[in-house]
Amino acid sequence: MPNYFALIPAAGSGSRMEQSLPKQYLSLHEKPMIFHSLNVLCQNQFISKVIVVLAPEDKHWFTYDWSEFNDKLLVFTCGGATRADSVRNGLLAAKQDNLVNTQDWILVHDAARPCLTASQLNKLLHELAGDETGGLLAVPVADTLKRADSENRVTATEPREHLWQAQTPQMFRYEILIQALQNTANKPITDDASAVELMGLSPKLIMSDTQNFKVTYPQDLALAELILQNRKTHD
Ligand code: C5P
Repeated sequence: MPNYFALIPAAGSGSRMEQSLPKQYLSLHEKPMIFHSLNVLCQNQFISKVIVVLAPEDKHWFTYDWSEFNDKLLVFTCGGATRADSVRNGLLAAKQDNLVNTQDWILVHDAARPCLTASQLNKLLHELAGDETGGLLAVPVADTLKRADSENRVTATEPREHLWQAQTPQMFRYEILIQALQNTANKPITDDASAVELMGLSPKLIMSDTQNFKVTYPQDLALAELILQNRKTHD
């Protein structure tokens, strides 16, 4: 039986947040942002280990207490220049330590998606368990899409039929994911699925919801706070 591993690339600086502290450590619901993803992933009964990939120069991680995740958490300080580099380096480090087998499932999740729920995660695991290729959480695009020129003038309205917004976790077998990321080492890919697609495979889109959004801009933090607060109130 394959094992399930989560991998959180957390080596970004989050420059679009306009803060000196990297985004994954910004305070959210009384915890550093990455805590919330870690909490959901570590509590999942099917996931055996959660690997966090930090930037080699990261000094912030070690200033927090992560002991409640001790039985599942593994930390590698091998983050790279891009998200894809961080994921690839983390996968290679896990293999070097004999942690993972080629047929194991890897769930890559952004540190900056703190509103992932246990039920979204279980849905992904359940719907992809027997899948050949793997897939990802995603939502159909809701807004009308405009293509713009360099002066932000509309040049076209794009049909949104069949268009989805990719989220994470993105779940692939180790063997497929590492090969995909090795193949695309110098290409500007922004998620794991696109690397897998370039191998000619078709990852499956698993319906999620917009609350699993990526905290990217300063105003996103308040929305994430409201969502987490609202969940706590209704627990
Ligand atoms: O910057 P962005 O929001 O796209 O980052 C998505 C995820 O990738 C974040 O969890 C971030 O920490 C991670 N990342 C990384 N290494 C990089 C850049 C981003 O692990 N060099």
